[in-house]
Amino acid sequence: MKFVTSQTKIEKIKTDALVVLTSKTLNKSIKHIDKNLNGVITKMIQDGDFSGKNISTCVVRNASKNIKRLILVGKEEGSSVQDRIKLIELGASNILKSYITNAHWVIDDTYEAWEIEIISRSILKINYSFKGNSKSSLSKLDLVCLNDYSLSNTETSTQYGEAVGRGMNLCRHLGNTPANICTPTFLAEKAKSLSDENTCIKTTILEESEMRDLGMLSLLSVGNASAQPSKLIVMEYNGSKTMQQPIVLVGKAVTFDTGGISLKPGRGMDEMKFDMCGGASVLGVMSALSEAALEINVVGLIPAVENMPSGNATKPGDVIKSMSGITIEILNTDAEGRLILCDALTYANRFKPKYVVDIATLTGAVIGALGKFTTGMLSNSEELAEILANCGNSSGDRVWQLPLWKEYDEQLKSNFADLANIGGEAGTITAGCFLSRFTKDYKWAHLDIAGTAWISGKNKGATGRPVPLLMEFLRSQVN
Ligand code: BES
Ligand code: MN
Ligand code: ZN
Repeated sequence: MKFVTSQTKIEKIKTDALVVLTSKTLNKSIKHIDKNLNGVITKMIQDGDFSGKNISTCVVRNASKNIKRLILVGKEEGSSVQDRIKLIELGASNILKSYITNAHWVIDDTYEAWEIEIISRSILKINYSFKGNSKSSLSKLDLVCLNDYSLSNTETSTQYGEAVGRGMNLCRHLGNTPANICTPTFLAEKAKSLSDENTCIKTTILEESEMRDLGMLSLLSVGNASAQPSKLIVMEYNGSKTMQQPIVLVGKAVTFDTGGISLKPGRGMDEMKFDMCGGASVLGVMSALSEAALEINVVGLIPAVENMPSGNATKPGDVIKSMSGITIEILNTDAEGRLILCDALTYANRFKPKYVVDIATLTGAVIGALGKFTTGMLSNSEELAEILANCGNSSGDRVWQLPLWKEYDEQLKSNFADLANIGGEAGTITAGCFLSRFTKDYKWAHLDIAGTAWISGKNKGATGRPVPLLMEFLRSQVN
C-alpha cells in the first residue's frame, strides 16, 4: 500500500475510485468537481440518493470516462472528532474493495491536519487481518490537494498517520497472537528485533536472576508457577537532539492470565491472551516513534509474565516484598497486574522521568464504569491528567479520569503486610490507589485499558488502542 500526495487537476484524474467528503452545500472546490462531472453530485443530492448528512454514503458508477466510481461521504460542518473519524473510516472501507487498485481522495481546505492523519491511519487499520488474507487490492492512494492546501503538510500528515496506523497494527497483531506463541520470551525477541531495525532504539532484557538481584519479588511472584520465564523488557528510544528527561511508558504484559490459584471461570478465558495489550501498545508506540522520527526521549518498560496455577504458585494470603520495600499481602492471585507493575514503576525511578504513564488491562470493573468506549485514567498529577485528556479528545482515543481519594486507598489495609493487593468495591480506583503507593517520586498517570484494548464477540480482536492517544501525547511533548 502506497500513499502519495499530488495536486492533480480533476480533469486529469483517471481512477478506480474518487472519494469526496461533503455536506449537501458544496463548497467552491467541490462545486468545481461537480461541474467537471456534469453536475452528478448536485443530482445525487436533489434525487435523494445522497443526503450529505454525517456518515451517509453513495457510490456513483462511471461518474465520468476516467472516474470509474465516485464515492460520496456525508460530512456536516461542525461535526465532532468521533463523527469525523467515523466518516473517514467509511470512505476508507469503501475503497478497500477487491476491485479497486488505485484510488484518489480529494483534500479540500475544510480538512484539518489531524483529519488527513486519520485517512492513512484508517486505511491501514481497516486493511489489517490477523490471518493475512485481506481482500483489498488497493496498491496506491493519491491524496489530491485542491487549491493551495499545502502539499508538504499533507505529506507530513499522511506519513504520521501511517506511522500510527502501523504501530496500532503491530500492537493488534501481538495482542491477537495466541498465548502458546506470544510468551514473555516472544515479546522480548520482538523488542530486540525492533531495536535491530531502528538505530534510535536500544533494548535490554532483564532475566529472572537479575530481577531477583534487584528485589523484584512482587513481579517474580506472578510468573512463579509458569513454565515460561518472566522478563522485564527495557526499551530506550533516543530521538531528542538535546539532553531531555525521558517519558517512561510502563505496559502490563501478562501473556496469559488464568487468575492463578484464584482461578478464573472457564467461559471467555481465551480472551485473557489479550492481557498483554498494555505491553503491546508500548511496542507499537516504539515502532511508531521511530517511523515518525519524533524528537523526544521515551523509555518503554514491559514486565512480561504468564499467570498460572501450579505447585509453586503464590497462594492467597502469601506475603511478598516488592522492590520498593513495601510488603504486599496477596489476597487474590488474579489481581496480578498491579504486582508486576509496582516493581516496574519502582524501576522507572532510575530514568529520572519527566512523566510516567502505565498502560494496563487491569480491572474488569472499568468496563462497568465506562463501557468499552473509554479508557479509565487515574493520576497523581492534574497537569499530566489534563494533557492526556486533551490528547484523548484530539486523537479520538479518549480517556476519563477517576478519583484517587483516600477513602478508597484505606480499603487496601492489611493486618499482615503494608498493603493488600485487593480491597473495596470500586475495583478500578483501588487498583489505581495500589499503584499510587509506588509512584510518589514522579508525575504519573495510569490508563486502565481493560475495556478498550480488544473487542469481544464476532469481531473479536485487539483494537490497537491506546497507541493513537500515546502518540498524540508524546508528540505534544516534543520541544
Ligand atoms: N486481566 C484482568 C482484568 C480483566 C478482566 C480485563 C476481565 C478484562 C476483562 C486482571 O488481572 C484481573 O483479573 N483483575 C481482577 C481484579 C480483582 C481480582 C480485584 C478483576 O478485574 O476481576
Ligand atoms: Mn488477573
Ligand atoms: Zn490480568
